[in-house]
Amino acid sequence: MKAIVYSKYGSPEVLKLTEIDKPIPKNNEVLVKINASSLNYGNLVLLKGDPFLARFAFGLLKPKYTIPGGDIAGRVEAVGKDVTQFQPGQEVFGDLSTSGWGGFAEYVSVPEKALALKPENLTFEEAAAVPMAAVTALQGLRNKGKIQARQKVLINGASGGVGSFAVQIAKSFGAEVTGVCSTRNLEILRSIGADHVIDYTKEDFTEKVQKYDLILAVNGHHPITAYERSLNDKGTFIHVGGSGAQLFQTMTLGPWFSLSGSKKMSSLLQRQNQNDLIYVKELLEARKIKPVIDKTFKMNEIVKAFKYFEQGHAQGKVVITI
Ligand SMILES: NC(=O)c1ccc[n+]([C@@H]2O[C@H](COP(=O)([O-])OP(=O)(O)OC[C@H]3O[C@@H](n4cnc5c(N)ncnc54)[C@H](OP(=O)(O)O)[C@@H]3O)[C@@H](O)[C@H]2O)c1
Repeated sequence: MKAIVYSKYGSPEVLKLTEIDKPIPKNNEVLVKINASSLNYGNLVLLKGDPFLARFAFGLLKPKYTIPGGDIAGRVEAVGKDVTQFQPGQEVFGDLSTSGWGGFAEYVSVPEKALALKPENLTFEEAAAVPMAAVTALQGLRNKGKIQARQKVLINGASGGVGSFAVQIAKSFGAEVTGVCSTRNLEILRSIGADHVIDYTKEDFTEKVQKYDLILAVNGHHPITAYERSLNDKGTFIHVGGSGAQLFQTMTLGPWFSLSGSKKMSSLLQRQNQNDLIYVKELLEARKIKPVIDKTFKMNEIVKAFKYFEQGHAQGKVVITI
């Protein structure tokens, strides 16, 4: 089968399209013929081995998982004898980030917990854009943020992969949603249901009088003190991504703010979770959310795809067709 393989950490050029053996499913595994995959920040960490701490999970000197690719959508080709949830022929999607990766290939063999049935109303390309980004947004808003109907919710960095799902998932909970993005993305945010949009190139929301019950910091940078100022009493701030300083401040000062006042400030570490993926599938099928796809690249354009994604200005998701 064809696969994107790499043997050393580095720039996107270390990724090579090559022929390798097709995997054989173990008793507890599902063999999936992959139609599409997508890019997430985790792919960059895996590619570069950076931040260095990640190498304790991904291989200290060289990558342990030689086929990157976390999000997939495809069709079940075969199942091991202990698999109970899936049958050959079914269309599935999934997040392989805790199952050895391997999504940039024609086939992958994975435990069934990494998969869910693909939303019926989505193409393979659309479905591949969903798992990691949508589940991150869901876990940030619902698990950590305890989002409630009618709350005022602000998503900073709302126009990328995670942010575009966060806007829609927050709306699905009945929140009043403000999305922060640059000028070229204002219309995208309105089209996916944001009640208010703020152009970060023209205004700094942390300097406005408007306060929020829940802030999800997905991209960009503000000092944690500025986020704290923008929260209502009993408001919650969740760091998802963006600048390293933003993460550092949340991890060091967040617990102090949370203990000393009425506001809660913490960061999210997304975890692959089959139930959350099924929850997201139901939102998609109910047409409460939809993936926003920026660009689609072919497998032999993987270097170009990574170079585009690593600039950090994707308008929604970047998809790879297999
Ligand atoms: N905590 C976790 O477990 C977890 C899980 C997944 C991802 N993440 C993190 O979440 C972040 C977002 O991931 P993603 O996949 O959504 O990234 P992405 O798709 O690459 O995000 C790109 C978007 O970010 C916007 N952006 C860039 N600079 C901005 C700024 N200064 N202010 C506001 N928006 C800005 C861009 O809009 P413009 O072009 O308009 O600037 C673009 O639309 C990353 O930092 C990633 O590491 C964390």
